[in-house]
Amino acid sequence: MPDARGLFLTFEGGDGSGKSTQSALLTEWLASLGRQVVHSREPGGTELGLELREIILHRRGYMAPRAEALLYAADRAHNIATVVRPALARGDIVIQDRYLDSSVAYQGAGRVLDPAEVRDVSLWATEGLLPDLTILLDLDVATGRDRLDDSRTRYDRLEAEAAEFHHRVRDAYLALAAAEPQRFLVLDATLPIDELSTRIRERVSDLLA
Ligand code: TMP
Repeated sequence: MPDARGLFLTFEGGDGSGKSTQSALLTEWLASLGRQVVHSREPGGTELGLELREIILHRRGYMAPRAEALLYAADRAHNIATVVRPALARGDIVIQDRYLDSSVAYQGAGRVLDPAEVRDVSLWATEGLLPDLTILLDLDVATGRDRLDDSRTRYDRLEAEAAEFHHRVRDAYLALAAAEPQRFLVLDATLPIDELSTRIRERVSDLLA
């Protein structure tokens, strides 16, 4: 496996935490500095991933938690092999909405699978790729839900889970960040958009230096 030369930056957080807004702002800013930036997301960063996203999020009826975990891992394997690793090998910056921490939080804590096993499945799928920086936009569950209510006519399979599920997800994210403080930047997602983007830029600037 060739060494990655670019930077891999991921955004994590619950639904409604502002990941897509902040990742778009960061992408725009880095591009304005003349950097080559690739923006991706999981699930659905590739053509195959878009099909998997439909199955994972919108298939009706029960889906076994391990089947769900493997579908996310399949999407991830393809995205990393065909989009992210090639971009990193070119020296590009990859900014991605959600990555393996989502699986540990949602499938591990949310679906109550073994978080270490879920992480190992993702590491196998990606040949061990970890982000250089993960920005966690932390938001309490009720506020995230209110934000979603304003933007959605219907919920996907994960969004439709009960509040307790989403509390477990949030707690798991915070525990992951506490366990790897050097990889995570945790920000309060209720801060104004501009302030959040300033703090993110400051941290990313350190990585570019
Ligand atoms: P998105 O709407 O942020 O693109 O994500 C779709 C849903 O998928 C969201 O509710 C979180 C969930 N998800 C997981 O449960 N596990 C994962 O590994 C990923 C990437 C997302």
